[in-house]
Amino acid sequence: ILVTTVAVALPVAAALAAQAIPEDLRETARATFKALPSTTPAVANNPITREKIALGKAMFFDPRVSASGVFSCNSCHNLATGGDDNRETSIGHGWQKGPRNAPTVLNSVFNIAQFWDGRAEDLKAQAKGPVQASGEMANTPGQLIATLKSMPQYVEWFNAAFPGEADRVTFDNFAKAIEAFEATLITPAPFDHFLNGDDAAMTSEQKQGLALFMDKGCSSCHAGINVGGDGYYPFGLVEKPGADILPEKDKGRFAVTNTPDDAYVFRVAPLRNVALTAPYFHSGKVWDLKQAVAIMGTTQLGEELTQEEVDRLVAFLNSLTGKVPEVAYPILPAETAATPRPVS
Ligand code: HEM
Ligand code: HEM
Repeated sequence: ILVTTVAVALPVAAALAAQAIPEDLRETARATFKALPSTTPAVANNPITREKIALGKAMFFDPRVSASGVFSCNSCHNLATGGDDNRETSIGHGWQKGPRNAPTVLNSVFNIAQFWDGRAEDLKAQAKGPVQASGEMANTPGQLIATLKSMPQYVEWFNAAFPGEADRVTFDNFAKAIEAFEATLITPAPFDHFLNGDDAAMTSEQKQGLALFMDKGCSSCHAGINVGGDGYYPFGLVEKPGADILPEKDKGRFAVTNTPDDAYVFRVAPLRNVALTAPYFHSGKVWDLKQAVAIMGTTQLGEELTQEEVDRLVAFLNSLTGKVPEVAYPILPAETAATPRPVS
């Protein structure tokens, strides 16, 4: 009789345990993740000042950074819609469709490196990319600087942001100012309030989801301050997704390191604000967050997650949706006769 009781009682206990919120949840979570700071973080080799932030913000919103005068950074990283463009892949210069999904710029300052394959070391290195990419802004550094120098207000702003430098309106300084602005785009979320000690910040389902996220091993890759963004793994560590989701021609980090082991390796996606940034994966092929989570289960963990597990994990992911800082749309400097004309 004793044996039967135990045999029957065990599954029940296990089911209950799966529902329960571990008492040391915050402690475990704090050892794995990190709350966002409440102030703008410092960045390497680029002291952040109010003047740099204001200049970077203007240029982030200025479509004249692109050759056509149509695309600003905000076109593909819309701060009103989660810092991305909510498209499978972006549309850029001449209505070209890009090869990858646009990631959010929100909290990007905390990523170990930029882009899906980590090919840019930091935000200032990254900012030089889209300007020159033929399918994005299709501009040249020379033409961009000529554009900025043609507007006295921009020259004044560069002088204020980079005092003491002989040559102030430069491509390097453009990139540094953009980085300074992007460093302000941090979004504290209920998850951070929970990490900081507020038990009521997350619902019980979200807490169960957080516990599951750690138990299942999601957090062995998605960890740290951005719940990802701090390491590289094969997409398809256990089981490769189909070519519809992982297109064969994009080999990820292989193109950066030229190492066979890096074929189909991508930066672990940072998951802050993930509920706002559909569609998912570097291919942008999956629109439903639940489906994206289920795919992670099979491809990364070799496990078919139950519907209930997926729901809980998504509940946790919803607690990563943070408060976007107030960004007032800037009034931009007026063009002059010297401003290069847009090209089509
Ligand atoms: C990636 C900022 C313009 C589309 C990124 C990332 C940042 C960024 C920070 C990396 C985020 C991460 O890795 O998590 C900027 C800035 C721009 C700009 C400051 C203006 C100078 C654009 C434009 C488009 C675009 C105009 C669309 C036409 C993309 C795409 C990626 C990306 C598709 C991912 C590319 C890859 O991983 O290979 N951008 N962006 N961006 N951005 Fe932009
Ligand atoms: C991407 C969640 C486990 C590595 C993603 C995305 C989500 C997610 C929602 C898409 C984010 C976006 O497109 O913005 C989860 C969950 C997991 C889990 C809930 C546990 C069930 C893992 C594990 C690893 C991993 C264990 C490492 C072995 C990655 C990588 C990407 C990614 C590399 C980027 C894939 C790409 O598009 O190239 N994850 N993940 N994930 N995850 Fe996970």
